[in-house]
Amino acid sequence: MYTHEDLAQLQTQSLKMQSWIRKQTFSPEMEKTLRRFSSWEVSELIFNINQSTFRGRLAAEPDLPGGEVEEDGRQRWFSLDEINELRRRMKINRKSLMPKRPAGKRAFRAAIANFKGGAGKSTVALHFAHAAALDGYRVLCVDFDPQATLSHSMGLNNVSEDHTVWGIMARDLIRETDRMNAASQGAASGTTLPQRRIPASIRDLGLDELRVSDFIQTTAWSTIDIVPSCANAAFVEFASAQYRHLNPEWTFFAAMSRYLDAIPADAYDLVIFDCPPAIGYQSMNAVFAADMLYVPSGPGYWEYDSTTSFIGQLAEALGDLTDGYPSTFPAGKVKLPKVFADIKFLMTRYEPNNELHRAMFEAFRKVFGDTMAEHPIEMTRAVEQSGRFLSSVYEIDYRDMTRETWRRARATFDRAYEEFKETALVAWDKLETTDE
Ligand SMILES: Nc1ncnc2c1ncn2[C@@H]1O[C@H](COP(=O)(O)OP(=O)(O)OP(=O)(O)O)[C@@H](O)[C@H]1O
Ligand SMILES: [Mg+2]
Repeated sequence: MYTHEDLAQLQTQSLKMQSWIRKQTFSPEMEKTLRRFSSWEVSELIFNINQSTFRGRLAAEPDLPGGEVEEDGRQRWFSLDEINELRRRMKINRKSLMPKRPAGKRAFRAAIANFKGGAGKSTVALHFAHAAALDGYRVLCVDFDPQATLSHSMGLNNVSEDHTVWGIMARDLIRETDRMNAASQGAASGTTLPQRRIPASIRDLGLDELRVSDFIQTTAWSTIDIVPSCANAAFVEFASAQYRHLNPEWTFFAAMSRYLDAIPADAYDLVIFDCPPAIGYQSMNAVFAADMLYVPSGPGYWEYDSTTSFIGQLAEALGDLTDGYPSTFPAGKVKLPKVFADIKFLMTRYEPNNELHRAMFEAFRKVFGDTMAEHPIEMTRAVEQSGRFLSSVYEIDYRDMTRETWRRARATFDRAYEEFKETALVAWDKLETTDE
């Protein structure tokens, strides 16, 4: 028979082996790095211009970054930073290559959410982040899932739980409680809320002293940063329930939204959330902070079923928040009910030659109408997990597989990303203008 003490002992044993196992399976060369992109990719797939036009421009303007020349060929290979410099400095037919961004708005926030496990959330989040970065956007990813798939695929393996969504929530609890206590003391008697106390065990973690930037880490992509997650952050679900008891007026679901509001409006263009396969404190924070909800779903009947219950439960949870927080408490900027600028359902792992998939896609379209994304993401061997890291098709060098397989895989993600971007741009424009 086993108790929690036995479990703790097993964990101690496992922790002792952890660093040894890591050493056995990890070598420094396997650290995630970003490859260079060929002039074919830069011109035709990234800038959407003719390859000869591109080559001509490079030849005519020798002070533009020229990339590295392949040993045996004519292709030049460019780093992401070089691509971004070219984008800033080149105009084609007097048109800028810079991506569209509505003026005076903060970064646009999109949550990739569905409580169905394995729906393709992390794959979609990873590909949209990479596609957006290649499109010239500066991206911040937030990994809300303690499985940390997105963090691992972005090369972050040594994350302390203090620097995850859990840390952001605990920090928010302390700061919000202090703010409410102060506001309550200053208010006329009769309207005061009780003073709430945060126990030393939480305050002493020192999380309230962390700066906004302490939670953000860089990745192998110079224009993609991430608030990572790690297995230990699974604690957030349990801890948050306790925290709510410490301060019942704390708008726990708005912690991430407050955190993101503290980032300068122009620091990023897109914020992409990868959600865990559950409705809980973390996913509620993601959903509440999101301007747009993107719900991936596989093409099976059961996936349709669970997507349906996901939206039902989400509706209920958001309804409960609206009913549960009367307007009489000092909630700061929190507005209820939560309003999304847009919602889209996205079919993933779709096989166009599979009759059942086609029938399911039609059914999704009938049910979800305009909120169904037009371009499903096809099933592709190219993104199935390979080696230590989950890699996107954008990261994989096309010379490592047949060019046709790579092209098709990239094309399906490109189409889905384009639709995501177009949808985001319309919704982005509807956001309030910032004062900065
Ligand atoms: N378009 C695709 N083609 C082929 N394989 C895919 C595709 N999309 C996702 N997969 C594979 O399906 C599996 C689950 O995908 P993913 O991890 O993105 O799902 P998830 O919704 O994030 O899962 P979880 O709920 O556990 O977080 C992965 O092994 C991934 O490689
Ligand atoms: Mg995932």
